[in-house]
Amino acid sequence: TYIIAEPCVDVMDKACVEECPVDCIYEGGRSLYIQPDECVDCGACEPVCPVEAIFYEDDVPDEWEPYVSANADFFDDLGSPGGASKVGKTDFDPAFIKGLPPMGE
Ligand code: F3S
Ligand code: F3S
Repeated sequence: TYIIAEPCVDVMDKACVEECPVDCIYEGGRSLYIQPDECVDCGACEPVCPVEAIFYEDDVPDEWEPYVSANADFFDDLGSPGGASKVGKTDFDPAFIKGLPPMGE
C-alpha cells in the first residue's frame, strides 16, 4: 500500500483524491488516509501531492514510520467501505495524529 505521512497534516491539499482510480483516499479531521486493503498500488497519487506526503510503504522515511500504522488505524472502525466519496469528510483522526502539534504553514 501507499501511505500518507506528516506533510499532509493540517495541509490536506486533496489533489491525490482526484487521481486515485479506486477512490481509497479517505478524509479525516487533520489528514487524509489511504485504505491499505483497497489501495491497488497504482502510484498515481504520489507525484501529484504538492508537499510530497505520499510514499510507497517500504519507502516511508524512518522519522515518519508511525504514519504507516496511523494510516491503518484510521480504518479500525471504518473498515473497508469500498469508496471514499460515499463516506465523505470525517472528523476522526487516530490518536497519534490527533496528538500532533499544529502543522503546516
Ligand atoms: Fe494530503 Fe498531499 Fe493528498 S497534502 S490530501 S496527501 S495531495
Ligand atoms: Fe490510489 Fe494512490 Fe493507491 S492513487 S490506488 S491510493 S497508490
